[in-house]
Amino acid sequence: MNTTSIKKFIEGIPKAELHLHIEGTFEPELMFEIAKRNNKKIKYSSVEELKKAYSFNNLQEFLDIYYAGANVLIEEQDFYDLTWAYLTKVHEQNVVHVELFFDPQTHTDRGVSFDTVIKGIHRALEDGKEQLGISFKLIMSFLRHLDEASAFKTLEQALPYKKWISAVGLDSSELGNPPSKFERVFAKSREEGFITVAHAGEEGPSEYIWDALDLLKVTRIDHGNRCLDDDTLVERLVALQMPLTVCPLSNLELKVVTDLKDHPIAKMLDLGLLVTVNSDDPAYFGGYMNENYQGIAEALNLSKQQITELTKNSFKASWLSDHEKDHMIAKIDTYFHNN
Ligand code: ADE
Ligand code: ZN
Repeated sequence: MNTTSIKKFIEGIPKAELHLHIEGTFEPELMFEIAKRNNKKIKYSSVEELKKAYSFNNLQEFLDIYYAGANVLIEEQDFYDLTWAYLTKVHEQNVVHVELFFDPQTHTDRGVSFDTVIKGIHRALEDGKEQLGISFKLIMSFLRHLDEASAFKTLEQALPYKKWISAVGLDSSELGNPPSKFERVFAKSREEGFITVAHAGEEGPSEYIWDALDLLKVTRIDHGNRCLDDDTLVERLVALQMPLTVCPLSNLELKVVTDLKDHPIAKMLDLGLLVTVNSDDPAYFGGYMNENYQGIAEALNLSKQQITELTKNSFKASWLSDHEKDHMIAKIDTYFHNN
């Protein structure tokens, strides 16, 4: 008879994180430290004041604060420190593989070079692999509130770093910025050999998920909550075993759901969707991976079996090799049997 509490069970189980914006891991303490060394002003007088501003009614209210926070990142070392802080944090949470987003335009638009951004992030990821044993993939995300020309320019800047970047993604303000706006730049990205993913159906309608599949040819949907409005779409996603990278605490903080007790992840699992749990922007939404798992486990009274399935999904949906996936899934099975 095993007696491990669900909290301990979640803490110990190996996990992969597939939906994480590195700019969204910027903790207020580090933000103030980096602002000081770069002589940059922050609108808030203290860490406490800043944290008080973290209350959002929708995605846009969050994005306004998130982009303002990123303004203090200037030097390669800043991007390194940001990434390293995230890796050490999730290492304690038994996250062993990460596939993370970075938003180059957030930085290049204010004069920081693409090279500075990617070199800092990538150096930290390499150190994380060596020192913490965390494997990684990098996803370059286009900001959908900006125009197609800006996305094409960003793709051009990324080409010399092709070997470091696995995929391109699409994030920022969803409503009014449909996938069709980026059909051509995604086609060019695929030609260049990048995998494609896109945020779809977070605030936007289920049609945006269809378009992400059909126009952008994505291999993973980020969020995807709104698929539940359309039974035919659910059938298609199940048939494809298309991964959905769901982010429970983000959904709560951005009012995609009003209460975690109403979160659809258990229903999604029951429907046979390949859903995973992720933290999105943990510094802003009150929790990293384990807090996300714990939040839904408590609110939805999830069993160890369901938690186990979600963590297995995180590896199935990753871009690790089949051999690496099999290895992690076997490890999780052993963990389940022993706990
Ligand atoms: N950028 C960072 N977090 C995001 C989210 N949850 N949705 C869209 N764009 C984002
Ligand atoms: Zn996101």
